[in-house]
Amino acid sequence: MKKILLTILSLCLSQVMWAQDYTKDVEKLLKKMTLEEKVGQMTQFTSSSDVTGPTLRGNVEKDVKAGHVGSLFNAVSADYTRKLQKMAVEETRLGIPLLFGYDVIHGFKTIFPIPLGEASSFDLEMMQDAARVAAEEASAAGIHWTFAPMVDVSRDPRWGRVMEGAGEDTYYNSEVAKARVKGFQGDDLAATNTVLACAKHFLAYGAPQGGRDYHTVDMSLQTLHDVYLPPFKACVDAGVETFMTSFNEINGTPSTANPYLFKDILRDQWDFEGVVVTDYTAINELIPHGIAGDLPTAGQLALNAGIDMDMEGDVFLSTLVQSVKDGKVSEKDIDNAVRRILLVKFKLGLFDDPYRYCDAEREKSVTLSQDFKNRARKAAQRSIVLLKNENQTLPLTLNNTKKIALIGPLAKSKKDVLGGWKAKGSPKQAKSLFEGMKAATKDKAELLYAKGCKMSGADTTGFAEALEVAQQSDVVVLAIGEPRTISGEAKSRSDINIPGVQTELLAHLKQAGKPIVVVLMNGRPLTLEREDELADALLETWHLGTMAGPAIADVIFGKYNPSGKLPMSFPRNVGQIPIFYNAKNTGRPFDPEKPSGYKSNYLDVPNTPLYAFGYGLSYTEFAYGDIKLSAETMQDQPITASIEVTNTGDYDGEEVVQLYIQDLIGKSTRPLKEMKGFEKIFLKKGETKTVTFTIAKEALTYHRWDMSEGVEAGDFNVYIGTSSDNVKQASFKLTKDFEVSKQYNPIKSK
Ligand code: NOJ
Repeated sequence: MKKILLTILSLCLSQVMWAQDYTKDVEKLLKKMTLEEKVGQMTQFTSSSDVTGPTLRGNVEKDVKAGHVGSLFNAVSADYTRKLQKMAVEETRLGIPLLFGYDVIHGFKTIFPIPLGEASSFDLEMMQDAARVAAEEASAAGIHWTFAPMVDVSRDPRWGRVMEGAGEDTYYNSEVAKARVKGFQGDDLAATNTVLACAKHFLAYGAPQGGRDYHTVDMSLQTLHDVYLPPFKACVDAGVETFMTSFNEINGTPSTANPYLFKDILRDQWDFEGVVVTDYTAINELIPHGIAGDLPTAGQLALNAGIDMDMEGDVFLSTLVQSVKDGKVSEKDIDNAVRRILLVKFKLGLFDDPYRYCDAEREKSVTLSQDFKNRARKAAQRSIVLLKNENQTLPLTLNNTKKIALIGPLAKSKKDVLGGWKAKGSPKQAKSLFEGMKAATKDKAELLYAKGCKMSGADTTGFAEALEVAQQSDVVVLAIGEPRTISGEAKSRSDINIPGVQTELLAHLKQAGKPIVVVLMNGRPLTLEREDELADALLETWHLGTMAGPAIADVIFGKYNPSGKLPMSFPRNVGQIPIFYNAKNTGRPFDPEKPSGYKSNYLDVPNTPLYAFGYGLSYTEFAYGDIKLSAETMQDQPITASIEVTNTGDYDGEEVVQLYIQDLIGKSTRPLKEMKGFEKIFLKKGETKTVTFTIAKEALTYHRWDMSEGVEAGDFNVYIGTSSDNVKQASFKLTKDFEVSKQYNPIKSK
């Protein structure tokens, strides 16, 4: 009883803190601060207990005691953060508590699927839950702030960081962004199990030339606004507390020095009041970018662009005081930055109790709990995409499968399943595919194993043993793909095939004449034409996290019917990149039915991807009826589009019903189709459900060449279906133009 009352009391207290107006507290504190102390608050350094970038500061403890830091990152664990916090609180003049940040991207210790994998689930509730678990674990280890979610739209699979986002679509990225922000921050920032989220990387970091990390971005303002900005706006709408700059330049100005992004858009148009942190040494990088000749100028550019905190660069700390004295920046701007930083510290409750997140007991009890592992397993199941299933090879039934060959360099890997950005996830706690299948086949079937080859290199000496094992078995499960170390930051590839001789191993095993189930583990879309030809069944499992093995086994043996859909197109070859479903038609569209010269196509490869956005099979089949619109015209009020979906196959299953719209004639050209809604439904064998989407005119607007925003009256196609390339069609007419803004020159700041 006492415990319940205490919980209710602490809940009420935290609500009070959340709703509280801290303006007076912030102003009181600000008044006491010297300019040096203010600049210290605007500084963030990394501890050396984890390394996530190219520089290490060294003795951060000295910096803390000197009052030179407002925030630390990569300092993890309840005990260590407590120790550092004590230095800040007890050994600095004002005792302002530190803010601890960390890249908690897809789990802290209980690792969930990589974000691109999770995005394949099209299950927003699950993604919110995954972020919730990550926040619970991280906050217990003293972390207040995660540098996630990454909401960069990514259309180039060569870029290693596609693993960290939700893929190529703007609408979908926005929905996922909201879910992840809510998951991390919860609805009460003062609760000790929530963390600040960070929308990153502002802006267009996912569009580097050639897919090469950190590279130049050069694109129209229309594309920036229509494709790359909306997921960030969604984060603001969901209440995100912080933003991170991106490393790249856009149209000649690096983001970290771009007032149009941070002042005009983020602060003025979107009313964002939270903290903007740079990416790792991004202010220093203004020098090699070539827009600042020295660090003081770089610091001035960043502050004047609207940046509040300098991550790791030591530029604000070492130059801003002098820049104020030289009249190059105003102390007012510094005060505003410090206000925002102090405010989040108040909101987190750090001034009431700076140690409230350093809870060694909670750290011990919640971390890697069975409940979290169960949730991670569920997330992993739902993130798997069935790409091919010839002759219903899957699921394997243990009644008639007595000997299974598990082959491949990833079959026993506990490291790679954790994926990039694994935070404090440890291979020791992860379950490999071998372990998952061993547990599932126990007493029912024999599991034979051979590695076959390594993930890289040309050595084929293991092929013979692998073939022997395959020959002895009823079916082969082959685990191949990418090691975790070749996707993530600074992990771009010019070739996106399966490395080494892994595909040759697959070809070699064909000689056994047994059905082959290929289990792919990778951090990005790959080119899989050969694998698609050779495999009987193909499962895209990404890097699924701590519970990868059991989750894949659940799918292989039919305990879970796969329901994932691809959030990014899989090209046939690298030359097709960038390839994404919502491309434009061109003036000479290619028609595969009537191929003739002078069309927008390649000579040597079809225009289509191997697997399209939204594609993914199930063990069952779904039949779609015709689209029914509530009206054939739309004026001001929304219309609805409904469709009946029937499970016509032999298994219960889930389907992601997808809505796309095409604006046929506009003042500017419009994409072939754009996702505007989706719903994941569960259908029992034989069951039918009606799915209804609402289409409002607000969802149809776009930016024209003059940067005005609106939509013109005219014809629209509505598509609903099972993937972006397999849909039913209907059409309606918008009878009246709808204008949102006539902003001809959006750039206000100088
Ligand atoms: C650089 C990455 O771009 C960013 O996403 C990350 O949060 C920081 N390093 C901190 O590790």
